[in-house]
Amino acid sequence: MIKYLGSKRTLIPRLLEVFGALDPKPTCIADLFSGTSRVGHACKKAGYQVISNDHNAYAETLARCYVQADLETHRAEAGLRIEQLMALSPQAGYFTKTFCEESRFFTPKNGARVDAMRNQIAAWEGAGLLTEELKAILLVSLMEAADRVDSTTGLQMAYLKSWAPRAEKDMELRMPEVLSNGKHGTCTATGIDALDAARACADSADLVYLDPPYNQHKYLGNYHIWETLVRWDAPESYGVARKRVDCRERSSDFNSKPRIASALHEVISACLAGQRVQHLVLSFNNEGYLQREDISAMLAPHGTLDVIEVDYKRYVGAQIGIHNPKGKRVGKPGKLRNTEFLFVLSRS
Ligand SMILES: C[S@@+](CC[C@H](N)C(=O)[O-])C[C@H]1O[C@@H](n2cnc3c(N)ncnc32)[C@H](O)[C@@H]1O
Repeated sequence: MIKYLGSKRTLIPRLLEVFGALDPKPTCIADLFSGTSRVGHACKKAGYQVISNDHNAYAETLARCYVQADLETHRAEAGLRIEQLMALSPQAGYFTKTFCEESRFFTPKNGARVDAMRNQIAAWEGAGLLTEELKAILLVSLMEAADRVDSTTGLQMAYLKSWAPRAEKDMELRMPEVLSNGKHGTCTATGIDALDAARACADSADLVYLDPPYNQHKYLGNYHIWETLVRWDAPESYGVARKRVDCRERSSDFNSKPRIASALHEVISACLAGQRVQHLVLSFNNEGYLQREDISAMLAPHGTLDVIEVDYKRYVGAQIGIHNPKGKRVGKPGKLRNTEFLFVLSRS
């Protein structure tokens, strides 16, 4: 899966343990800020029905592939089409120009293959040959292949001054780990605002998992290339990182210090508006805009609240220190670890 800020990769065993110990036992889990879909994928694999949501198109696509699509339906055709994509000749276009010439996120040889493959996916789609899920599987295969040969530290705000060794390798597509149908029913993915998703799942999920952004780091700006790859809309771009212009307008209240508390409060209230949702599990850390006490105060009136503390490795920027635009280190690495909180609410 792709490199992602705030990904819960190492927290997944703990999350599954917490979900599995709840009483009454949940069968349908809604993940309203799904990001890479790692959590939803692990839940589907563990047999839960999963509803995934994230407001960015690349994340919705990841969820369609890892949560909504079922292996039995798509394995054969996806495998065949991935082979066909791999056989295409390079064809430099918007992606190469924007992300390999005007910036240096990928080598031009890999960029031209991305252009050729993405155009082919668009052509298949235009000819009515792809279902929504098959298209998502192909896009995720391409996104992950590009991620394995990028020249970044895992964020698309900037690229490395010299090519990362992995960037010189030839890009290679693989079949994503699409799962078999969950035993509890059809899994779904949407790409809407978390508040609308909370309203929509209040009558269908018995557990809601919330993993919102904690601070000012915007996901669209940090993963703008995946958004453009998925949307394939050749947007006007700006700055050294050639971000899509809509990065300036599209925003999330969860990245705003004055707005995050009311945004989270609204989402929690919407989840708990009906009787169906029995448990709410929320991830946050000790370096975000909200304090442990703020979140406890929002949740505690609704039932029994447990707060689990997990010692966690901080994001990559903290590990390598602060660099100026020329790549020279100008600050020391910060703290290497922080505390991840898991707020576990069970309704009384
Ligand atoms: C901390 S990340 C989630 C990481 C995810 N649990 C994982 O393991 O990959 C937060 C996610 O919230 C999404 N997001 C931010 N604001 C949102 C909103 N208002 N509605 C829906 N999704 C939002 C971002 O796109 C980002 O993917």
